Amino acid sequence: MKVLIIGGGGREHAVALALAKSPSVKKLWAAPGNGGTARICENVPLGACDMEGVLAFCRENRPDLVVVTPDDPLALGMVDMLEKHGFSAFGPRARAAELEASKAFAKDFMQRHGIPTAACRVFRDKASALGYAKLCPLPVVVKADGLALGKGVIICHERQEALDAVEKLSASVSGSTLLFEEFLSGPEVSQLCFCDGEHVALMPASQDHKRAYDGDEGPNTGGMGAFSPVSVYTPELQGRCLREIILPTVRGMREDGREFRGVLYVSLMLTPQGPKVIEYNARFGDPETQAVLPLLESDLLEIMLAVHDGTLDGLRIRWLDKASCCVVMASGGYPGKYEKGFPIFGLENAAAYGTVFHAGTELRDGEYFTAGGRVLGVTAVADTLPEAVDLAYKGVFEIDFERAFFRRDIAKKDPLLGGGV
Ligand code: AMP
Ligand code: GLY
Repeated sequence: MKVLIIGGGGREHAVALALAKSPSVKKLWAAPGNGGTARICENVPLGACDMEGVLAFCRENRPDLVVVTPDDPLALGMVDMLEKHGFSAFGPRARAAELEASKAFAKDFMQRHGIPTAACRVFRDKASALGYAKLCPLPVVVKADGLALGKGVIICHERQEALDAVEKLSASVSGSTLLFEEFLSGPEVSQLCFCDGEHVALMPASQDHKRAYDGDEGPNTGGMGAFSPVSVYTPELQGRCLREIILPTVRGMREDGREFRGVLYVSLMLTPQGPKVIEYNARFGDPETQAVLPLLESDLLEIMLAVHDGTLDGLRIRWLDKASCCVVMASGGYPGKYEKGFPIFGLENAAAYGTVFHAGTELRDGEYFTAGGRVLGVTAVADTLPEAVDLAYKGVFEIDFERAFFRRDIAKKDPLLGGGV
């Protein structure tokens, strides 16, 4: 089969490497891809949201499956568009992807279907949002409605912060719908699952590290590292989330005429009152996918086809009974301004410890150069989490590029590494 992967981050490299292992895959393209996918796919110079370009490419090259990985083309309806023209695509249609694309829609959905989540008030205009910010209980979490690359959430402890958050979010994102959420606390878990509209297959759970610096300091990023599994998320808790959150979500979406096919990513907070949904994503997470997919033993293409065909219940998906850790190496300055174009050294040596997924890299004349904020995800798999962490950092210390930075505490909060939670 010929498969086109839409996107160009570390997650897409991880998907590409997993698909490349499938004996049924004869040809892989990545649009736009990166330096890492260039080794296993043919990179196609198309933006991930270039609807017309992707359609023209498909008409010419007839892929058997298009894997639409990032959030924005899913929200724009790339899957709908491809299906309308007779192509098979992996990923939810736009009406299902709204679970991620609109936080107000997701909240209303959860409230209607009795799915546990933070209490919330939604305001459709700035004046009423400001009015509420003056008197709401604190702390409060103010969120923009739409996709905002992790920049649409502000946690406010003081009154003035809540007022400033309204000003900032209503100026920076399109649309004026804002959410005010009850502040929750507890460990966070990313539960990704394959979903064929009716049946669900859970992936091993993982935990992301969203802040830029050690100790969860600094600005929010796309994610600076992830590990799997998460020991505080016990099999009992996972079973509870499946019953109380995931299955009701899938059923609710079907009842609402928004059948969800693809990867459903539920971001959970394990609060003292039980697990609650922080948000939904309608896709593989990044960097979570770089930690989770190396644990997959089964054929990813087979799973994707079963998701597409609605036959996931007939499949037994096998995962390694091991742990994995992914440490992201980023460009100095990220998530703010950073420079690109620096040569990357030490990739071969790092490969002795695990897999180096490429995110913001470019391959030029056989050499790799930095080309983005998150540059690499160094992932190691081992029998235990402490061993996986150790190996991942050994890999990281082999790699060098100008102004590289990474967190030194990935997975350190897990009790297996001596953390409190
Ligand atoms: P989101 O973009 O909705 O995933 O939010 C980004 C981050 O903000 C999450 O990973 C949480 O750490 C934090 N967050 C979001 N909602 C809440 C909430 N209701 N209470 C506490 N923290 C939150
Ligand atoms: N790691 C967070 C995300 O993929 O949205």
